[in-house]
Amino acid sequence: MAKIQAIRGMNDLLPTESPVWQYFERTVSDLLKAYGYREIRMPIVEQTELFCRSIGEVTDIVEKEMYTFTDRNGDSLSLRPEGTASCVRAADQHGLLFNQTQRLWYAGPMFRHERPQKGRYRQFHQIGAECFGLAGPDIDAELIILTAGLWKKLGIQSDVTLQINTLGLPEERAAFKADLVAYLSKHVDQLDEDSQRRLESNPLRILDSKNETTQQVLNDAPLLEDYLSEETRSHFSSVLDYLKQAGVAYSVNPRLVRGLDYYSKTVFEWVTESLGAQGTVCAGGRYDGLVEQLGGKATPGIGFAMGVERLVLMLKELDVVPAEAIRTVDVFIVAAGEGTQQKAFELASTLREEGGLRVLQNMGGGSFKSQMKKADKSGARVALILGEQELENGEVVIKDLTAEAGQRTLGQEDAVIHLKKLFDNQG
Ligand code: HAM
Repeated sequence: MAKIQAIRGMNDLLPTESPVWQYFERTVSDLLKAYGYREIRMPIVEQTELFCRSIGEVTDIVEKEMYTFTDRNGDSLSLRPEGTASCVRAADQHGLLFNQTQRLWYAGPMFRHERPQKGRYRQFHQIGAECFGLAGPDIDAELIILTAGLWKKLGIQSDVTLQINTLGLPEERAAFKADLVAYLSKHVDQLDEDSQRRLESNPLRILDSKNETTQQVLNDAPLLEDYLSEETRSHFSSVLDYLKQAGVAYSVNPRLVRGLDYYSKTVFEWVTESLGAQGTVCAGGRYDGLVEQLGGKATPGIGFAMGVERLVLMLKELDVVPAEAIRTVDVFIVAAGEGTQQKAFELASTLREEGGLRVLQNMGGGSFKSQMKKADKSGARVALILGEQELENGEVVIKDLTAEAGQRTLGQEDAVIHLKKLFDNQG
């Protein structure tokens, strides 16, 4: 019988990979907590209308990429293609937005029916942060500074660059859009097919077309910045000032528009060249109209989400994951000879309970040599070896598996103390 395979674009995360994911998730969540963000978990399935009303009816996500189905009650439901809409829905539904600032973060799978390729999947994972109730430019800067700090912690700061733009308020954008459409309509023959289609449905997206002829036409197009109010401009320049003072380098990209309709004012993307075509690893912006648009009381909001698969790929390609961060076993216990396994159980428990260590005890017997092979393969840092001789003397042999550091024989109690210290120092 043919074996059933996973769905294209939806990946299994294997145990060889999961330590890097855990390291990444731990690093991000520690940093988010250090900035006062608290975790929220939303369902994976929502009413389809939530995404239509927030992301926008005429975006690629809603038009072409959602996993939408009718459930047994006849309701139209969709797998979430992103987290912001659900987060706003949940925060408003549970009264978290009433007269208060709210800093929330979430992590989990998102679903988009895109063409799978390196860095682009149909089930992918995001870690996102959303902050509600703050309208000033300082929080825009704080969020970006937070992400810049993350790249530093991960050791990838020189491989990502920040692109930033302001999209203004909806009314400012509307005036610009009208003039842009009027201009582009005069050059419609020179536009690529996608852009021709977008001229009707979502003209702003034409700005980030990768097509060269379209880009040439855009060179003489009206500029959004000429349509922005004083208030919008000064908000943006304050954000840039804060970033400058914090030493976060950026490049203002007037053609950065984002693929979701809910943004206003600041938008940004962190981009890398090290992944090929799918180079955006983190993206976000301000969405001051969204809460109200979804039926809540007007509340400013801003946030970002990063693509976990893309960042994990980057960490691996740049080889910046510290070996200790992804080690899953500290000590492997080799017990060979009559009566040694009984003692090994005891030592393993002591090391786990008193030392807080991760201990793999050899199971199923085997010669000393074959057990040592297993110890090497386990990835443990240290082998604790117990033979009949050691058992008799109340001793064990401690062997460092990561270096040619040799081995030493210690009394069993001393060995526990020694190992506790060794791993404490390592942090
Ligand atoms: P987004 O730009 O659609 O924004 O997605 C954010 C990040 O998710 C992207 O920069 C990318 O790293 C990752 N990503 C998106 N699609 C895929 C895919 N098919 N495969 C792998 N990774 C992918 C949002 O989702 C907004 N909710 C961000 C936000 C939060 N804005 C404000 N708050």
